[in-house]
Amino acid sequence: MSFRTASLQLAKVAAARQIVSKRALSVLASSAVRRPAFNASVRNLNISRGIKTINFGGTQEVVHERADWPREKLLDYFKNDTLALIGYGSQGHGQGLNLRDNGINVIIGVRKNGSSWKAAIQDGWVPGKNLFPIEEAIKKGTYVMNLLSDAAQSETWASLKPLLTSDKTLYFSHGFSPVFSNLTKVEPPKDLDVILVAPKGSGRTVRSLFKEGRGINSSYAVWNDVTGKAEEKALALSIAIGSGYVYKTTFEREVNSDLYGERGCLMGGIHGMFLAQYDVLRENGHTPSEAFNETVEEATQSLYPLIGAKGMDYMYDACSTTARRGALDWYPKFREVLKPVFEELYSSVKTGAETQRSLDFNSQPDYRERLEEELNVIRNMEIWQVGKEVRKLRPENH
Ligand SMILES: NC(=O)c1ccc[n+]([C@@H]2O[C@H](COP(=O)([O-])OP(=O)(O)OC[C@H]3O[C@@H](n4cnc5c(N)ncnc54)[C@H](OP(=O)(O)O)[C@@H]3O)[C@@H](O)[C@H]2O)c1
Repeated sequence: MSFRTASLQLAKVAAARQIVSKRALSVLASSAVRRPAFNASVRNLNISRGIKTINFGGTQEVVHERADWPREKLLDYFKNDTLALIGYGSQGHGQGLNLRDNGINVIIGVRKNGSSWKAAIQDGWVPGKNLFPIEEAIKKGTYVMNLLSDAAQSETWASLKPLLTSDKTLYFSHGFSPVFSNLTKVEPPKDLDVILVAPKGSGRTVRSLFKEGRGINSSYAVWNDVTGKAEEKALALSIAIGSGYVYKTTFEREVNSDLYGERGCLMGGIHGMFLAQYDVLRENGHTPSEAFNETVEEATQSLYPLIGAKGMDYMYDACSTTARRGALDWYPKFREVLKPVFEELYSSVKTGAETQRSLDFNSQPDYRERLEEELNVIRNMEIWQVGKEVRKLRPENH
C-alpha cells in the first residue's frame, strides 16, 4: 500500500471517529507528497527455511509465523497429546478456546465450583469430559499449561509439583514463577521439558484476534530441554494457542521486560504522566473537558493510532510545524527526567522487589476487595469521570 493510500485510510478512520484534532492531520497530504513509498518491512525481510530473519534496527532476529505451522501440521504434532490447561482466567479462557477451536485435545483444570469452573461450563466445557479438578487434569495431561494467577502458582506449587512426572511438558505464560523461585518456591523439576509462550496482550485479545482471523504476537522461551524438542514444542504451542507470530526470549528477559513495561509506558508510567499533565492544566484554570481532551482524548483517538500505524516519525510528520517544534524541543527533557525513574523501576524488577510485592498483595485472602478499593479511587478521579462524559460525545457512542 502506498504511503498516500495509507495516509488517506488513516485519515478516513480518524475522521469517522470525529475526534481528529485540527492540528493532527493538517499536514498529511503534504507529507504524503514528500515521503517515499513505505516498504521498509519488505526490504528487511529475508525468508529462510520457512522462518523469517528480520533486521530489527540493525539486530538480526528470528521470527516464526503462523504460516510455518498450518493447522494440519499442528493437529499431527499434537495428535497423541492431551493439553491440560490449569486455570481459566484471562489467559486460560483465551488460550483454551483457541486450542479447542484449532481441534486440539485440550482439557481444563480448575477448582471445583469456583468462579472459573462456572465460567468454563458457560463456555461449553463439560465436567468429566474436558473439565476437571486441577489434580485430575494434570494427571491426564501430557502438557501441563500452568495458567493459574502468578500468586496462585506459588500457593499451589507444593501440591502440584509431585504430579509433574517426567513424561509431561510444563508450560508457563510468564517467567515470573520459575525466575523468582527464591520468592515463589516454584522450582520446575529438572527431568522434564519446561517452556514458555507469553502473549503480548490480555487473554481477551488472544481470543478476539484469533476469532478475527488475526493473531497476537507472543514471545517463547525454553527453561529445560530434556528431550531436545522443547523449542519445537514451544513454537507449535505458540501457534496452537492463537499467536500470529512469535519471537524468541528467555524466561528471565520475558519476566523482566514484562514487569517493567506494565509498570512503565504501558500502564503505570503513562497513567502518572496523564495525571501530572491534567493537574497542571486544571491548576492553571483550564476546564475539565479541555484538560481531558488535550491530555487523553487527542492522544488515544488521534495521535497514538498514528504511532501504532506507522511510527513516531510519522506522527510528528502528521502534526503542525508548531506542535512538531515544541515536541522536538521537549522530548529530550522528559527523557532525561524520566530515565532515572525507569532505572529505579528496572532495578526493582530485577532484584525481585516487584515480585515480592505482587506475591504479598495478591495472595491476601481479601486481595480482590482491596484491589477494588484502589480501582475505585481511580474511577472517581476527576480526570476519569470527565473521560466518561467525553466518550459519550463521540458520535459513534450516540
Ligand atoms: N492477563 C494477562 O494479560 C496476561 C498476559 C500474558 C501472560 N499472563 C500470564 O498468564 C498466567 C495466567 O494469568 P491470568 O491473568 O490469566 O490469571 P487470572 O485471570 O488471574 O486467573 C486466575 C486463575 O487462577 C485460579 N486461582 C486463583 N487462585 C487460586 C488458588 N489458590 N488455587 C487454585 N486456583 C486459583 C482462578 O480460579 P478461581 O476462579 O477458582 O479463583 C483462575 O482460574 C499468569 O502467569 C500471567 O502472568 C497474563
